[in-house]
Amino acid sequence: MERTPRSWLARGAALLALTFLLFAHAAFAAAKKSEVDVEPGKACIKCHLKESPGIVAEWKKSGHNKKKTVDCYDCHAAHQGDKGAYEHHGEFITTIVTPKACASCHKKEVEQQQRSHHAKAGQILASLDNLLGEVIGGPAAVNAGCRQCHGGIVQVDDHGKPTPQTWPNTGIGRINIDGTLGSCSACHARHSFSAAQARTPDTCGKCHLGPDHPQIEIYNESKHGILYRANVDEMKLNAKKWVAGVDYTAAPTCATCHMGATRKQAVTHDVGERISWTLRPAISTKLNMIRLSNGDEFDQPEGKVLPKVGDEVKGAKVTEVLTWDQRRKLMEDVCVACHSQGLVDGHYKQFDDLVNLYNDKFAKPIAAVMKELQDKGYTTASPFDEKIEWTWYEIWHHEGRRARHGASMNGPDYTWWHGMYEVAQRTYFDWIPELKEVVRKKDGNEKFADELLAKYFKPIDGHDWYFNGMSRDAIEKVRKGYEERYGKDTLK
Ligand code: HEC
Ligand code: HEC
Ligand code: HEC
Ligand code: HEC
Ligand code: HEC
Ligand code: HEC
Ligand code: HEC
Ligand code: HEC
Repeated sequence: MERTPRSWLARGAALLALTFLLFAHAAFAAAKKSEVDVEPGKACIKCHLKESPGIVAEWKKSGHNKKKTVDCYDCHAAHQGDKGAYEHHGEFITTIVTPKACASCHKKEVEQQQRSHHAKAGQILASLDNLLGEVIGGPAAVNAGCRQCHGGIVQVDDHGKPTPQTWPNTGIGRINIDGTLGSCSACHARHSFSAAQARTPDTCGKCHLGPDHPQIEIYNESKHGILYRANVDEMKLNAKKWVAGVDYTAAPTCATCHMGATRKQAVTHDVGERISWTLRPAISTKLNMIRLSNGDEFDQPEGKVLPKVGDEVKGAKVTEVLTWDQRRKLMEDVCVACHSQGLVDGHYKQFDDLVNLYNDKFAKPIAAVMKELQDKGYTTASPFDEKIEWTWYEIWHHEGRRARHGASMNGPDYTWWHGMYEVAQRTYFDWIPELKEVVRKKDGNEKFADELLAKYFKPIDGHDWYFNGMSRDAIEKVRKGYEERYGKDTLK
């Protein structure tokens, strides 16, 4: 456009008109807010200050109150007739506040969270663990146990109030009455809704702990966890901008590696984005991620043919394919805020080797034997009615996971003593004897068990010692070393 004084004049006039319009709009919006929103919000605060001062105090110190923009009614407002709506001191409100309520102001976070594994964590009804929980444990244990981490199905009664069987619940993949998934207060405790609190490792540790996924224990053991605790004052957890290697350098937290901003990446609420393996199943695989035009995404194990952008998959178009390798690069980008690429490559080499060791030496041959036992009628189809099935379950679901998790996040005790040591000890001295027992019970001898071991275990180098014993030299060396340390004839 040519820049004559006239065109500047025209621009000035247009700008003036725009400013006026914006002002008018703002005034209108303010008027609207004061008539529709602010009054009920004020009433809530006034009365709840007496009824539940703790809630109001937490809200008062939150970012939501800082600019006086978000009050009780902004999140709890509902329409008459909505599922979960009820009249409360003259206003229609809802007790249940879902990600949908947050989406009007935090669209990006909600989109990322909705497509993530976290949002889907409530959909565990068809799982092996659920059978264990419901049938072998009992429904009350599933409700107060599993569902408080994974999320249950929230239901409301005829008055729109949540039922006591299904709420309180802030499970990470809670199934909500409006069709949304999850609960933002799984990490951002209400009503402070703080980023600082969510950045602490303890936030994740509510769920990521225990015998089958001890991530917080591993973190606490790692150099990273030690440095976090030693330097928590330097972590700038309260800062608005929190870029690893720029705003803080002392240590990474769970949130740093799995969600946090780097010099290149923004914060993500899609916690699986930077993960290349799945360490959960009996046998680990690397995972590619497929994103779809309907906002959803799913993992596809390595080895299957990848769809291309634009292909039709699961009733939607593919918008992005993140290979396992690209996902790993996103994680490495976090590490290099504080480390050299060489250290990071070394870490992944050690981690991959451990996962492959677990997979190839133990998980694959055991799984193959378990399948033959079942196919040939030595065990029933029911998963938990034989001792050998519990042993195998604990080998992969507890000990084998601990080993893999330990190696992924620098917890050597979990990799070895709580991990591979137990995998090995239980394989050789529980599972193999139980295998022989199962076969003897049906056949009267152990021949088939020996055949299975010869077929699946013997070809693997790492099991050589079990079949052929350890070499004299190796034993002699160990005896000498031991005696040098602890004295003559101490090794019995
Ligand atoms: C005049 C007092 C008063 C006012 C005004 C008021 N509340 Fe309450 N509110 C209460 C009391 C008392 C309870 C606890 C008893 C009950 O559940 O009704 C309560 C309970 C609640 C609950 C929990 C209900 C449950 O299922 O456990 C929510 C959510 C709530 N109020 C939100 C609001 C919001 C939002 C507003 C403003 C629109 C508001 N309240 C206004 C007194 C008030
Ligand atoms: C940013 C959104 C937001 C704001 C603002 C907000 N709440 Fe809530 N509130 C929630 C969420 C989320 C829950 C958890 C409900 C659920 O599990 O679905 C909740 C739960 C509640 C509950 C029931 C749970 C309990 O701990 O007893 C009450 C009562 C309540 N809010 C009152 C208030 C009052 C009063 C205010 C204003 C001072 C307020 N809320 C402001 C989002 C909000
Ligand atoms: C009406 C708009 C609105 C709604 C609805 C809303 N928020 Fe916010 N939220 C904001 C604004 C504005 C800020 C920024 C405040 C500031 O600048 O510190 C914010 C900040 C935050 C923060 C960052 C606070 C910090 O410590 O830096 C979190 C976390 C958050 N909101 C979570 C939620 C959740 C969860 C919900 C739904 C339960 C929700 N918000 C609903 C407007 C909203
Ligand atoms: C303390 C919180 C907690 C409890 C209690 C809990 N889980 Fe989990 N569960 C998790 C976490 C965290 C993971 C993810 C672990 C990982 O990624 O390493 C998980 C993983 C799973 C998975 C694997 C999901 C997948 O996509 O591979 C299933 C299935 C499962 N849990 C079912 C259950 C059932 C059923 C129960 C109760 C009988 C239960 N869990 C109890 C936290 C919990
Ligand atoms: C798994 C835990 C977790 C869940 C669940 C979660 N958040 Fe967050 N959220 C975080 C962490 C950690 C941060 C701080 C990220 C950072 O700055 O590194 C954060 C930051 C935020 C912020 C501040 C802006 C930003 O991106 O840094 C907003 C807003 C927010 N979350 C909204 C939400 C909403 C809305 C939901 C529900 C849809 C939600 N969060 C669920 C962990 C969580
Ligand atoms: C230094 C960065 C770092 C920190 C800190 C960290 N993680 Fe990880 N995490 C990783 C890496 C790397 C992997 C393996 C990624 C892969 O598969 O390529 C991983 C894997 C995981 C997995 C997937 C496990 C599975 O079963 O497939 C979960 C869940 C997890 N971390 C949770 C956590 C939690 C919770 C914390 C804090 C207690 C935490 N992480 C701290 C880097 C980190
Ligand atoms: C309320 C429980 C809960 C909290 C809190 C929680 N998680 Fe999870 N997380 C889970 C469960 C359950 C799963 C398994 C979901 C599934 O695949 O079904 C999971 C899965 C994951 C995964 C694997 C994702 C994937 O795509 O495979 C990562 C990484 C993870 N969580 C990181 C975190 C981090 C980091 C935090 C804290 C900022 C956190 N989680 C807080 C329950 C939780
Ligand atoms: C915010 C900074 C920060 C980030 C991000 C970070 N680390 Fe670290 N890490 C450290 C610090 C500081 C140490 C302590 C170094 C030492 O042992 O003296 C450390 C120690 C380590 C160690 C132990 C080194 C040793 O010599 O024993 C390993 C391995 C490691 N980190 C791997 C990683 C990996 C892999 C990632 C990314 C997934 C990562 N770190 C992300 C700061 C970070």
